[in-house]
Amino acid sequence: MYEKNYSSDGPAGAGKSTVSKIVAAKLGYTYIDTGAMYRAVALKSSRSCDDLIAIIDDINIELDDKARVFLDGEDVTTEIRTPEISKLASDVSKFGFVRKRLTELQRKMAERGSVIMDGRDIGTQVLPNADLKIFLTASLDERARRRFEELQAKGQAVNLDAIKKEIALRDKQDTEREIAPLKKAFDAILIDSTNLTIDEVAGKILTLCSTD
Ligand code: DC
Repeated sequence: MYEKNYSSDGPAGAGKSTVSKIVAAKLGYTYIDTGAMYRAVALKSSRSCDDLIAIIDDINIELDDKARVFLDGEDVTTEIRTPEISKLASDVSKFGFVRKRLTELQRKMAERGSVIMDGRDIGTQVLPNADLKIFLTASLDERARRRFEELQAKGQAVNLDAIKKEIALRDKQDTEREIAPLKKAFDAILIDSTNLTIDEVAGKILTLCSTD
């Protein structure tokens, strides 16, 4: 069977991972969260005195089919989801040698079968020949509101204004960095999820998949 690669890019909080997981489950594809890989690099660097080049040279990152993330064999799925690691992941992602290594790993993952890969540079750099490219976005207010509700539901003490500032800073860093910035690929389909439910977005993508 011909293996398919789908890319899903967009800014933080646009709903990429939630929607991509639904679509992957419906199609029987593997979901690959590349942001989690940058987060794993950030976590390792926060724990280590080594410089980032040494860290990248000697890192093992694995994602399993339950979307768990393993850093050098340790399950770090929860630990990589703090605001500090979000910021640090965006910081480390600007280095070319970090991107090169993770891009290699991501391409290898995509070779194993049909995938939906989400991130910032999947349609532009990692899988430029993807069969279908989605660029998912939403207004900053809506993305901050969603993140606020998600963290509140997990019982975390959160502040909407602080979340909005954190997302705005990451948007700026991710879109303005020199190497592989967050950008819609010219052939990606733009979906603005500001006024759509998760199921509506997933439905739109599944319709697009059925015609690809
Ligand atoms: O998707 P996320 O919020 O978990 O990603 C965390 C950070 O990782 C994001 O702010 C920028 C970086 N990232 C990247 O540079 N390229 C990707 N393909 C995925 C994430």
